[in-house]
Amino acid sequence: MAAHDTTTSTVTSMVYELGRDREWQERCRRQCLELGPSPTLAELEGLTDLDLVMKETLRLHPPVPVLARRAVKDTEVLGVMIPKGRLVSVMPLLSHHMPEYWTDPELFDPERFTEGRREDKSHRYAWEPFGGGVHKCLGMIFANLESKLVLSALLRHFEWSVPLDYVPPMKNDSLPFPGDGLPVSLRPLTPARTG
Ligand code: HEM
Repeated sequence: MAAHDTTTSTVTSMVYELGRDREWQERCRRQCLELGPSPTLAELEGLTDLDLVMKETLRLHPPVPVLARRAVKDTEVLGVMIPKGRLVSVMPLLSHHMPEYWTDPELFDPERFTEGRREDKSHRYAWEPFGGGVHKCLGMIFANLESKLVLSALLRHFEWSVPLDYVPPMKNDSLPFPGDGLPVSLRPLTPARTG
C-alpha cells in the first residue's frame, strides 16, 4: 500500500488535473515528445514541467491526507497543551489548502513551485505529502520517477480531457480514489505528433 496505492493515487490525480487543464497537458507533452524511445534516468529528471504538475497535484490531492503521531513528551503547540502519550493527527490535506501559506489555494497552479515563487517555502511543513522528520517517505524520489514515467508514456501517445465541471466522487476506504473510476475521454495522438 505504501509504495503502490500512493503512487497510483498520485498518477490518477495528475491525469485528472491535466485532463482539466489542457494548456498544462500540452506544455508537459512538449517536453515528453523530446524523449528518446526508452527514456533514461537523466531524461526523466529533465521533465521539469511534470515535476511542477506532480508537486501541485500532491498539494491538492495528498494521497496520505492524515498522519498519526504520538507525543513523546509534554509539549505546547499554539497555546494548546499536549501531554506525553497523546495521539495527534497531522493533516497535510489541511496545511496544503491554508491561505496563510498558498495564494488562491484551491487553484491548480503548478507555477507556484517555480523558483521566484516557491510558495512551498512559506513554512517548513506547508507542503508535506511525503510526511516529514525521521519517517519521511523513503520512496519519494522513486515515486517521482515512476509517476513521470507513466505520465510521459501517456502524454507521448494520447491526449485526454475531463469535463471542467466534473468532480470525482472520492472514496477514502484506503487512500483517496475516485469512486467512479475517473472516466476520461482518451484519444490517440496523430502519428505526425508522436513522430
Ligand atoms: C507519491 C507517492 C508516495 C507518497 C505520497 C508517499 C507518502 C508517504 C508518507 C506521507 C509517509 C510518511 C508516513 C508517516 O510519517 O506516518 C511515507 C513513508 C514511507 N514511504 Fe512513501 N509515499 C509514496 C511512495 C512511496 C514509494 C514508491 C515507496 C517505496 C518504493 C515508499 C516507501 C515508504 C516507506 C518505506 C516509508 C516509511 C519510512 C519510515 O517510516 O521511515 N513510498 N510515504
